[in-house]
Amino acid sequence: MNLHAVLSLALALAAQAVQAEAVSGYRFLDESTRAMQDDDFENPGLVAVDRGSELFHELRDSEEYSCSSCHGQDRVKLDVRQIARYPVYDPNLGGLVTLQKRINYCWETSLDRFPLTPGHADLIALETYVRNRARGEKVDVRTDGEMAALLAKGEALYHARFGQLDLACQHCHVQHQGQMLRGQKLSQGQANGFPEYRLGQGRITSFQQRLTECFVSFRAEPFEAGSEEYDLLKLYVTARGNGLPIETPAVRF
Ligand code: HEC
Ligand code: HEC
Repeated sequence: MNLHAVLSLALALAAQAVQAEAVSGYRFLDESTRAMQDDDFENPGLVAVDRGSELFHELRDSEEYSCSSCHGQDRVKLDVRQIARYPVYDPNLGGLVTLQKRINYCWETSLDRFPLTPGHADLIALETYVRNRARGEKVDVRTDGEMAALLAKGEALYHARFGQLDLACQHCHVQHQGQMLRGQKLSQGQANGFPEYRLGQGRITSFQQRLTECFVSFRAEPFEAGSEEYDLLKLYVTARGNGLPIETPAVRF
């Protein structure tokens, strides 16, 4: 190998290493938005945390349990390391289980209530409350065993082109990260802050809702709410951010 070849190989490897390093959307924010996220009195996402707390402790008429009966007052019995592992693989619950699905499962089977739809405000509030318990914990999704094949499917979706503009997730969030698009700086599209508060929308937003917005923004047909594709993308995107701190509720534009 001549010097030129060695140099270009080294450059290619360095580029890969840069690409591989996960960077939170937080690092792409301006200073005032970061400060808002960091301050519990200013962070508007804390409203959803409070609402989640109400639901978590609420004992409804004639019901025997609330979430807190099993998971402790102020969610103390929920293990933060376990929360950071979601989505998980659980054959008893049908395979790939997102945190939202796990909560809905408890809602339905432990509390004997009708399951909530994926976009239901109460479900997102509970998810925000539960994940907020693990704020600061590092994302730690398993990538081996049963997960490997599911991750490969999620990765394929991440690279698939959709819609009139024929774009894939990776075009914006890998190739063009750091560049401006319609006044917004493109981040890596990481999942560590979800559910997150969106200043532009004025509401707490789930991962699925954010993806639906991405699809609409490049004029593609979004997947159906609650579909397997969304879960596979959630798995791939979350695992891509392994090691990033959980920021729920993050503040984003
Ligand atoms: C009757 C008891 C009971 C009630 C009530 C209950 N859960 Fe659960 N929950 C469980 C059990 C059992 C598990 C499985 C724990 C395990 O696998 O280690 C679980 C697991 C979870 C997990 C995953 C934690 C982990 O370690 O993987 C979350 C999050 C959760 N529940 C949230 C809720 C929420 C929110 C509510 C109220 C809507 C609720 N649960 C109501 C018993 C309950
Ligand atoms: C046309 C460009 C474009 C495409 C393609 C696109 N997005 Fe986005 N996405 C954006 C913009 C703009 C934002 C808001 C700024 C940012 O955080 O990057 C965003 C934000 C996000 C976020 C939130 C990041 C955070 O820190 O809050 C996630 C997650 C995300 N996108 C995932 C995806 C996934 C998965 C796909 C493929 C289904 C996708 N995006 C396709 C433009 C795009």
